[in-house]
Amino acid sequence: MKKILFITGGAGFIGSHVVRLFVTKYPDYQIVNLDKLTYAGNLANLKDVEHLPNYKFEKVDIVDGKAVQALFEKYQPFGVIHLAAESHVDRSIANPMEFIMTNIVGTVNLLNAARHTWKDNFDGKRFYHVSTDEVYGSLANDGSLFTEETPYDPRSPYSASKASSDHLVRAYFHTYHLPIVLSNCSNNYGPNHFPEKLLPLAINNIKNMKPIPIYGKGENVRDWLYVVDHARAIDMIFHNGKIGDTYNIGGLNEWTNIDLIHKLCEIMDRKLNREPGTSAKLITFVQDRAGHDLRYAIDSSKLVNELGWKPSLQFEEGMEKTVDWYLENEEWLNNVTSGDYQKYYETMYSGR
Ligand code: NAD
Ligand code: DAU
Repeated sequence: MKKILFITGGAGFIGSHVVRLFVTKYPDYQIVNLDKLTYAGNLANLKDVEHLPNYKFEKVDIVDGKAVQALFEKYQPFGVIHLAAESHVDRSIANPMEFIMTNIVGTVNLLNAARHTWKDNFDGKRFYHVSTDEVYGSLANDGSLFTEETPYDPRSPYSASKASSDHLVRAYFHTYHLPIVLSNCSNNYGPNHFPEKLLPLAINNIKNMKPIPIYGKGENVRDWLYVVDHARAIDMIFHNGKIGDTYNIGGLNEWTNIDLIHKLCEIMDRKLNREPGTSAKLITFVQDRAGHDLRYAIDSSKLVNELGWKPSLQFEEGMEKTVDWYLENEEWLNNVTSGDYQKYYETMYSGR
């Protein structure tokens, strides 16, 4: 009998890379992808692996506690890797409630279902909560890094909802001894990134010769990690991380937004055979994000020293691969931006 592993949010950006890694690397696991298929969930992200016998999809809203409990009873998973979330900061500023429901209530529903299904028999069980570096707040431009000991200071509705879910996950460990593990990661980039986020939005706009919106003066700093390296870290932490512990994951790869976009413009000009400087002319400074955190940067030495993780790709290589993927996957981009894919999958999975 295969061991059943739940991956929530597997149709999203990072989740789809985690599902791909686990279904191909662990044929002895039956992977069940639990996803509501919001605007950000797209089963086309899993086209190349969905035929594998150890992959299965269940459409579920994690805010529905009864539905979540029923799936735990049906499958009796030995583990959960929880990625399902509302993930976009700008949307959280416009509509915080979705974030409270999915990120906080949804996480508690999963914790409760795991606890009630596993009933104190926690041997070999594991609940992995995937979180963000944004819970630590904002750094000054002084070279400091977030460590696992940095006090929480979330400053957007998104990061506050993720911080709340992190606290609840730890509370279930301390109170009920639920075997949890957590990670907090920096900004990911790579294939299947939804084009509301800075890099895929800029790639799409450059391709279509549309303005590239840069918030404020573009001085904010983010630490970029190729998404497959995040998935590799999740694999290591899920299998070898210490129960109750937290691991930071980052690329030691800080860029101001404006430098990052200039770098992207150079790559795009070359790939699209445009005169150097053509894409950079599209850069447009727009009103800043409310409460815009200045800088995030992660110290991942615990993960490196204790579990032996290191990023497999240099940033230049990751950016080239990412741009190539978007240029080669025009249909994915067009479908996602037109919203057609949602209609298609709603029909396909209605009634399940
Ligand atoms: P995403 O927005 O691309 O995907 C989220 C997925 O969750 C989608 O498939 C969506 O359909 C699903 N989902 C949303 N609400 C749901 C609900 N109520 N029930 C079931 N499924 C639901 O997000 P992402 O960028 O892949 O992020 C995945 C996780 O990683 C999130 O928890 C996020 O906080 C965390 N994270 C993201 C980054 C990043 O740079 N993107 C960095 C660090 C941590
Ligand atoms: O740090 C990890 C986080 O990274 C994750 O937890 C989030 O889920 C993920 O969305 C991401 O959050 P950011 O807010 O950093 O990502 P975003 O791509 O929205 O923005 C990156 C930077 O670019 C940020 O400083 C805001 C800026 N920006 C963003 C957009 C969408 C712009 O200047 N223009 C834009 O149009």
